[in-house]
Amino acid sequence: NQYLKDGIYHALRFAGHFYYNNLADSDEAAHVRDYLQKRGYPWKTVRKYGLGYAPDRYDGLLKAASDAGINRDYLMEAGLLKARERGSGYYDTFRARLMFPIFNPSGKVIAFGGRTLSDAKNIPKYINSPQTQVYNKSEVLYGIQVARNDIRKEGEVILVEGYTDVISLQQAGIGNVVSTSGTSLTPDQVRVMKRYGDTVVMIFDADVAGVRAAVRGISIALEGGMAVRVLTLPEGEDPDSYVREYGEEGFRELRKKETMDFLRYLVSLAKKEGRWDDPVDRRKIITEMLEAIAVMPDEVSRMNFLQELSRISRIGDRTLQKELEIVRNRIR
Ligand code: UTP
Ligand code: MN
Ligand code: MN
Ligand code: MN
Ligand code: MN
Repeated sequence: NQYLKDGIYHALRFAGHFYYNNLADSDEAAHVRDYLQKRGYPWKTVRKYGLGYAPDRYDGLLKAASDAGINRDYLMEAGLLKARERGSGYYDTFRARLMFPIFNPSGKVIAFGGRTLSDAKNIPKYINSPQTQVYNKSEVLYGIQVARNDIRKEGEVILVEGYTDVISLQQAGIGNVVSTSGTSLTPDQVRVMKRYGDTVVMIFDADVAGVRAAVRGISIALEGGMAVRVLTLPEGEDPDSYVREYGEEGFRELRKKETMDFLRYLVSLAKKEGRWDDPVDRRKIITEMLEAIAVMPDEVSRMNFLQELSRISRIGDRTLQKELEIVRNRIR
Protein backbone atom coordinates (compact mmCIF):
# COMPACT_ATOMS: atom_id res chain seq x y z
CA ASN A 1 0.00 0.00 0.00
CA GLN A 2 2.82 2.46 0.80
CA TYR A 3 4.41 1.17 -2.39
CA LEU A 4 1.25 2.07 -4.31
CA LYS A 5 1.08 5.49 -2.65
CA ASP A 6 4.69 6.25 -3.56
CA GLY A 7 3.88 5.39 -7.15
CA ILE A 8 0.89 7.72 -7.09
CA TYR A 9 2.89 10.58 -5.57
CA HIS A 10 5.56 10.07 -8.19
CA ALA A 11 3.00 10.18 -11.01
CA LEU A 12 1.46 13.35 -9.58
CA ARG A 13 4.82 15.04 -9.28
CA PHE A 14 5.65 14.09 -12.84
CA ALA A 15 2.32 15.49 -14.03
CA GLY A 16 2.92 18.73 -12.12
CA HIS A 17 6.26 19.21 -13.84
CA PHE A 18 4.81 18.24 -17.18
CA TYR A 19 1.97 20.80 -16.97
CA TYR A 20 4.32 23.46 -15.64
CA ASN A 21 6.89 22.96 -18.39
CA ASN A 22 4.16 22.94 -20.98
CA LEU A 23 2.88 26.28 -19.65
CA ALA A 24 6.41 27.69 -19.63
CA ASP A 25 7.55 26.60 -23.07
CA SER A 26 4.89 25.52 -25.50
CA ASP A 27 3.40 27.58 -28.32
CA GLU A 28 -0.06 26.25 -27.52
CA ALA A 29 0.16 27.80 -24.04
CA ALA A 30 0.98 31.31 -25.29
CA HIS A 31 -2.60 32.44 -24.69
CA VAL A 32 -2.48 30.98 -21.17
CA ARG A 33 0.69 32.88 -20.28
CA ASP A 34 -1.08 35.93 -21.61
CA TYR A 35 -4.15 35.22 -19.50
CA LEU A 36 -2.09 34.82 -16.33
CA GLN A 37 -0.23 38.03 -16.96
CA LYS A 38 -3.49 39.91 -17.48
CA ARG A 39 -4.81 38.44 -14.22
CA GLY A 40 -1.80 39.89 -12.48
CA TYR A 41 0.16 36.72 -11.82
CA PRO A 42 3.87 37.20 -12.53
CA TRP A 43 5.97 34.14 -13.28
CA LYS A 44 7.21 34.11 -9.71
CA THR A 45 3.64 33.34 -8.62
CA VAL A 46 3.17 30.73 -11.34
CA ARG A 47 6.28 28.98 -10.07
CA LYS A 48 5.37 29.28 -6.39
CA TYR A 49 1.99 27.60 -6.91
CA GLY A 50 3.24 25.26 -9.62
CA LEU A 51 0.58 26.35 -12.10
CA GLY A 52 0.58 24.62 -15.45
CA TYR A 53 -1.25 23.95 -18.66
CA ALA A 54 -2.71 20.60 -19.69
CA PRO A 55 -2.38 20.25 -23.47
CA ASP A 56 -5.42 20.09 -25.68
CA ARG A 57 -4.79 16.44 -26.60
CA TYR A 58 -6.22 13.13 -25.49
CA ASP A 59 -2.86 11.65 -24.61
CA GLY A 60 -0.50 14.55 -23.84
CA LEU A 61 0.32 13.44 -20.32
CA LEU A 62 -0.13 9.74 -21.11
CA LYS A 63 2.53 9.85 -23.85
CA ALA A 64 5.03 11.91 -21.86
CA ALA A 65 4.61 9.70 -18.80
CA SER A 66 5.00 6.50 -20.82
CA ASP A 67 8.18 7.88 -22.37
CA ALA A 68 9.44 8.58 -18.86
CA GLY A 69 8.71 4.99 -17.84
CA ILE A 70 5.79 5.71 -15.55
CA ASN A 71 3.37 2.84 -15.20
CA ARG A 72 -0.11 3.58 -16.50
CA ASP A 73 -1.69 2.06 -13.41
CA TYR A 74 -0.18 4.77 -11.25
CA LEU A 75 -1.58 7.47 -13.53
CA MET A 76 -4.97 5.80 -13.24
CA GLU A 77 -4.75 5.54 -9.46
CA ALA A 78 -3.66 9.19 -9.34
CA GLY A 79 -6.82 10.21 -11.17
CA LEU A 80 -4.85 11.58 -14.11
CA LEU A 81 -6.13 9.09 -16.69
CA LYS A 82 -9.52 7.72 -17.50
CA ALA A 83 -10.44 4.49 -19.24
CA ARG A 84 -12.41 4.91 -22.44
CA GLU A 85 -16.02 3.96 -22.05
CA ARG A 86 -16.13 2.08 -25.32
CA GLY A 87 -13.28 -0.08 -26.53
CA SER A 88 -9.96 -0.18 -24.79
CA GLY A 89 -7.50 2.57 -24.06
CA TYR A 90 -7.09 5.58 -21.86
CA TYR A 91 -7.19 9.35 -22.10
CA ASP A 92 -6.00 12.33 -20.02
CA THR A 93 -8.42 13.54 -17.34
CA PHE A 94 -7.28 17.14 -17.81
CA ARG A 95 -7.16 18.61 -21.30
CA ALA A 96 -6.84 22.24 -22.37
CA ARG A 97 -6.97 23.53 -18.83
CA LEU A 98 -5.00 25.88 -16.63
CA MET A 99 -3.78 23.58 -13.88
CA PHE A 100 -3.69 24.25 -10.14
CA PRO A 101 -1.81 21.54 -8.25
CA ILE A 102 -3.24 20.84 -4.80
CA PHE A 103 -0.60 20.17 -2.16
CA ASN A 104 -0.73 18.52 1.24
CA PRO A 105 0.61 20.51 4.22
CA SER A 106 4.13 19.20 3.68
CA GLY A 107 4.13 20.24 0.03
CA LYS A 108 3.51 17.06 -1.95
CA VAL A 109 1.16 17.24 -4.94
CA ILE A 110 -1.94 15.19 -4.16
CA ALA A 111 -4.43 16.34 -6.81
CA PHE A 112 -5.24 18.99 -9.39
CA GLY A 113 -7.92 21.49 -10.22
CA GLY A 114 -8.14 22.57 -13.84
CA ARG A 115 -9.76 25.74 -15.17
CA THR A 116 -11.00 26.06 -18.70
CA LEU A 117 -10.18 29.30 -20.45
CA SER A 118 -12.94 28.90 -22.99
CA ASP A 119 -16.29 30.59 -22.44
CA ALA A 120 -18.27 27.68 -23.85
CA LYS A 121 -21.35 27.32 -21.64
CA ASN A 122 -21.62 23.54 -21.78
CA ILE A 123 -18.37 22.71 -19.98
CA PRO A 124 -17.66 23.20 -16.27
CA LYS A 125 -15.36 26.11 -15.37
CA TYR A 126 -13.27 23.89 -13.10
CA ILE A 127 -12.82 20.16 -12.96
CA ASN A 128 -11.02 18.48 -10.09
CA SER A 129 -9.20 15.21 -9.48
CA PRO A 130 -11.37 12.35 -8.27
CA GLN A 131 -10.94 10.98 -4.77
CA THR A 132 -7.81 8.77 -4.64
CA GLN A 133 -5.61 6.93 -2.14
CA VAL A 134 -3.71 10.15 -1.48
CA TYR A 135 -6.51 12.69 -2.02
CA ASN A 136 -9.32 12.81 0.48
CA LYS A 137 -11.43 15.74 -0.67
CA SER A 138 -13.18 16.16 2.63
CA GLU A 139 -10.00 17.08 4.48
CA VAL A 140 -8.07 19.07 1.91
CA LEU A 141 -7.53 22.82 2.18
CA TYR A 142 -6.06 24.46 -0.89
CA GLY A 143 -3.09 26.67 -0.05
CA ILE A 144 -2.29 25.05 3.29
CA GLN A 145 1.35 24.36 2.31
CA VAL A 146 1.93 28.12 2.09
CA ALA A 147 -0.52 29.30 4.75
CA ARG A 148 0.22 27.05 7.69
CA ASN A 149 3.06 29.09 9.23
CA ASP A 150 1.15 32.35 8.94
CA ILE A 151 -1.97 30.75 10.41
CA ARG A 152 0.09 29.63 13.41
CA LYS A 153 1.55 33.12 13.78
CA GLU A 154 -1.81 34.88 13.57
CA GLY A 155 -3.82 32.21 15.36
CA GLU A 156 -6.36 32.80 12.66
CA VAL A 157 -7.23 31.34 9.29
CA ILE A 158 -8.98 33.16 6.47
CA LEU A 159 -11.25 30.79 4.56
CA VAL A 160 -12.20 31.57 0.96
CA GLU A 161 -13.96 29.70 -1.83
CA GLY A 162 -11.55 29.49 -4.71
CA TYR A 163 -8.04 28.72 -5.90
CA THR A 164 -7.46 32.21 -7.26
CA ASP A 165 -8.74 33.80 -4.04
CA VAL A 166 -5.97 32.03 -2.12
CA ILE A 167 -3.26 32.89 -4.63
CA SER A 168 -4.23 36.55 -4.97
CA LEU A 169 -4.48 37.19 -1.23
CA GLN A 170 -1.23 35.40 -0.47
CA GLN A 171 0.49 37.23 -3.30
CA ALA A 172 -0.78 40.52 -1.85
CA GLY A 173 0.82 39.73 1.50
CA ILE A 174 -2.08 38.14 3.35
CA GLY A 175 -0.63 34.74 3.98
CA ASN A 176 -3.01 32.94 6.33
CA VAL A 177 -5.54 31.96 3.65
CA VAL A 178 -6.89 28.59 2.53
CA SER A 179 -9.83 27.49 0.44
CA THR A 180 -12.37 24.71 0.46
CA SER A 181 -12.31 24.85 -3.36
CA GLY A 182 -15.99 24.97 -4.04
CA THR A 183 -17.24 22.25 -1.72
CA SER A 184 -19.02 23.12 1.49
CA LEU A 185 -16.89 23.08 4.63
CA THR A 186 -16.54 19.66 6.29
CA PRO A 187 -15.78 18.65 9.91
CA ASP A 188 -12.51 17.10 8.71
CA GLN A 189 -11.39 20.40 7.18
CA VAL A 190 -12.23 22.13 10.46
CA ARG A 191 -10.07 19.61 12.33
CA VAL A 192 -7.16 20.37 9.99
CA MET A 193 -7.59 24.14 10.41
CA LYS A 194 -7.67 23.77 14.18
CA ARG A 195 -4.22 22.22 14.14
CA TYR A 196 -2.91 25.66 13.14
CA GLY A 197 -5.30 28.23 14.60
CA ASP A 198 -8.62 28.45 16.41
CA THR A 199 -10.32 31.43 14.77
CA VAL A 200 -11.69 31.30 11.24
CA VAL A 201 -12.60 34.36 9.21
CA MET A 202 -14.90 33.24 6.42
CA ILE A 203 -15.05 35.26 3.23
CA PHE A 204 -17.61 34.04 0.78
CA ASP A 205 -18.22 35.27 -2.72
CA ALA A 206 -20.88 37.96 -2.68
CA ASP A 207 -23.24 35.87 -4.78
CA VAL A 208 -26.19 33.56 -4.06
CA ALA A 209 -24.07 30.41 -3.88
CA GLY A 210 -21.70 32.15 -1.49
CA VAL A 211 -24.42 33.07 0.99
CA ARG A 212 -25.79 29.55 1.09
CA ALA A 213 -22.30 28.15 1.70
CA ALA A 214 -21.82 30.66 4.51
CA VAL A 215 -24.76 29.57 6.62
CA ARG A 216 -23.86 25.87 6.37
CA GLY A 217 -20.16 26.48 6.93
CA ILE A 218 -20.68 28.55 10.06
CA SER A 219 -22.36 25.70 11.96
CA ILE A 220 -19.71 23.18 10.94
CA ALA A 221 -16.90 25.43 12.15
CA LEU A 222 -18.71 26.27 15.40
CA GLU A 223 -19.36 22.60 16.07
CA GLY A 224 -15.63 21.97 15.64
CA GLY A 225 -14.95 24.49 18.39
CA MET A 226 -13.62 27.34 16.27
CA ALA A 227 -14.43 31.00 16.81
CA VAL A 228 -16.20 32.12 13.64
CA ARG A 229 -16.16 35.51 12.02
CA VAL A 230 -17.49 36.49 8.62
CA LEU A 231 -16.21 39.20 6.30
CA THR A 232 -18.79 40.49 3.86
CA LEU A 233 -17.61 41.66 0.45
CA PRO A 234 -19.36 44.24 -1.71
CA GLU A 235 -21.92 42.82 -4.16
CA GLY A 236 -20.40 40.87 -7.04
CA GLU A 237 -16.86 40.67 -5.63
CA ASP A 238 -14.78 37.73 -4.54
CA PRO A 239 -11.55 38.04 -2.51
CA ASP A 240 -9.42 37.81 -5.65
CA SER A 241 -11.25 40.57 -7.49
CA TYR A 242 -11.33 42.73 -4.37
CA VAL A 243 -7.66 42.54 -3.53
CA ARG A 244 -6.68 43.09 -7.15
CA GLU A 245 -8.73 46.27 -7.19
CA TYR A 246 -7.95 47.68 -3.75
CA GLY A 247 -4.65 46.04 -2.81
CA GLU A 248 -3.42 44.76 0.54
CA GLU A 249 -4.25 48.01 2.36
CA GLY A 250 -7.77 48.11 0.99
CA PHE A 251 -8.27 44.52 1.97
CA ARG A 252 -6.98 45.02 5.51
CA GLU A 253 -9.24 48.03 5.93
CA LEU A 254 -12.27 46.10 4.73
CA ARG A 255 -11.41 43.29 7.09
CA LYS A 256 -11.29 45.67 10.00
CA LYS A 257 -14.55 47.39 9.06
CA GLU A 258 -16.66 44.55 7.71
CA THR A 259 -15.76 41.54 9.84
CA MET A 260 -18.51 40.46 12.23
CA ASP A 261 -18.93 37.60 14.63
CA PHE A 262 -21.17 34.93 13.14
CA LEU A 263 -24.23 36.03 15.09
CA ARG A 264 -24.12 39.62 13.89
CA TYR A 265 -23.48 38.33 10.39
CA LEU A 266 -26.61 36.15 10.48
CA VAL A 267 -28.66 39.09 11.75
CA SER A 268 -27.34 41.44 9.09
CA LEU A 269 -28.04 38.81 6.45
CA ALA A 270 -31.62 38.44 7.70
CA LYS A 271 -32.04 42.22 7.67
CA LYS A 272 -30.70 42.45 4.14
CA GLU A 273 -33.19 39.80 3.05
CA GLY A 274 -36.02 41.61 4.85
CA ARG A 275 -36.61 38.67 7.15
CA TRP A 276 -35.78 40.40 10.42
CA ASP A 277 -38.72 42.83 10.40
CA ASP A 278 -41.33 40.12 9.96
CA PRO A 279 -42.22 38.47 13.31
CA VAL A 280 -42.85 35.04 11.79
CA ASP A 281 -39.59 35.06 9.83
CA ARG A 282 -37.76 36.39 12.84
CA ARG A 283 -39.01 33.48 14.93
CA LYS A 284 -37.44 31.08 12.44
CA ILE A 285 -34.22 33.01 12.32
CA ILE A 286 -33.87 33.04 16.08
CA THR A 287 -34.35 29.27 16.10
CA GLU A 288 -31.60 28.95 13.46
CA MET A 289 -29.31 31.07 15.59
CA LEU A 290 -30.03 29.02 18.69
CA GLU A 291 -29.20 25.95 16.65
CA ALA A 292 -25.85 27.48 15.74
CA ILE A 293 -25.16 28.39 19.37
CA ALA A 294 -26.29 24.97 20.58
CA VAL A 295 -23.57 23.07 18.69
CA MET A 296 -20.74 25.08 20.24
CA PRO A 297 -18.78 22.74 22.52
CA ASP A 298 -17.71 25.47 24.95
CA GLU A 299 -20.32 26.48 27.51
CA VAL A 300 -18.91 29.94 28.20
CA SER A 301 -19.04 30.75 24.50
CA ARG A 302 -22.61 29.51 24.34
CA MET A 303 -23.58 31.81 27.21
CA ASN A 304 -21.78 34.79 25.67
CA PHE A 305 -23.58 34.42 22.39
CA LEU A 306 -26.87 33.77 24.11
CA GLN A 307 -26.51 37.12 25.86
CA GLU A 308 -25.59 38.78 22.60
CA LEU A 309 -28.65 37.28 20.95
CA SER A 310 -30.74 38.52 23.84
CA ARG A 311 -29.45 42.07 23.35
CA ILE A 312 -29.97 41.97 19.59
CA SER A 313 -33.45 40.43 19.67
CA ARG A 314 -34.58 42.09 22.92
CA ILE A 315 -35.85 38.75 24.16
CA GLY A 316 -35.03 38.01 27.76
CA ASP A 317 -32.03 35.78 28.33
CA ARG A 318 -34.04 33.45 30.61
CA THR A 319 -36.46 32.79 27.77
CA LEU A 320 -33.61 32.20 25.33
CA GLN A 321 -31.85 29.99 27.84
CA LYS A 322 -34.91 27.73 28.07
CA GLU A 323 -35.17 27.61 24.28
CA LEU A 324 -31.50 26.79 23.98
CA GLU A 325 -31.91 23.78 26.27
CA ILE A 326 -34.81 22.55 24.15
CA VAL A 327 -32.77 22.95 20.98
CA ARG A 328 -29.76 21.22 22.53
CA ASN A 329 -31.86 18.26 23.61
CA ARG A 330 -33.37 18.01 20.15
CA ILE A 331 -29.93 18.08 18.49
CA ARG A 332 -28.22 15.57 20.79
P1 UTP B 1 -15.92 30.35 -8.56
O1 UTP B 1 -16.92 30.10 -9.63
O2 UTP B 1 -16.19 31.47 -7.62
O3 UTP B 1 -14.53 30.52 -9.32
O4 UTP B 1 -15.74 29.00 -7.77
P2 UTP B 1 -13.25 31.40 -8.91
O5 UTP B 1 -12.46 30.65 -7.89
O6 UTP B 1 -13.67 32.79 -8.58
O7 UTP B 1 -12.40 31.33 -10.26
P3 UTP B 1 -12.04 32.51 -11.29
O8 UTP B 1 -11.68 33.72 -10.50
O9 UTP B 1 -13.23 32.72 -12.15
O10 UTP B 1 -10.89 31.95 -12.06
C1 UTP B 1 -15.04 28.92 -6.55
C2 UTP B 1 -14.31 27.59 -6.48
O11 UTP B 1 -15.24 26.53 -6.61
C3 UTP B 1 -14.66 25.43 -7.32
C4 UTP B 1 -13.23 25.85 -7.63
O12 UTP B 1 -12.38 25.36 -6.61
C5 UTP B 1 -13.30 27.36 -7.59
O13 UTP B 1 -12.03 27.95 -7.33
N1 UTP B 1 -15.40 25.16 -8.56
C6 UTP B 1 -16.04 26.16 -9.23
C7 UTP B 1 -15.44 23.87 -9.05
O14 UTP B 1 -14.87 22.95 -8.45
N2 UTP B 1 -16.11 23.62 -10.23
C8 UTP B 1 -16.72 24.61 -10.94
O15 UTP B 1 -17.29 24.34 -12.03
C9 UTP B 1 -16.70 25.91 -10.41
MN1 MN C 1 -4.97 38.66 12.99
MN1 MN D 1 -18.66 32.05 -6.69
MN1 MN E 1 -15.12 33.28 -7.03
MN1 MN F 1 -12.82 34.71 -8.98
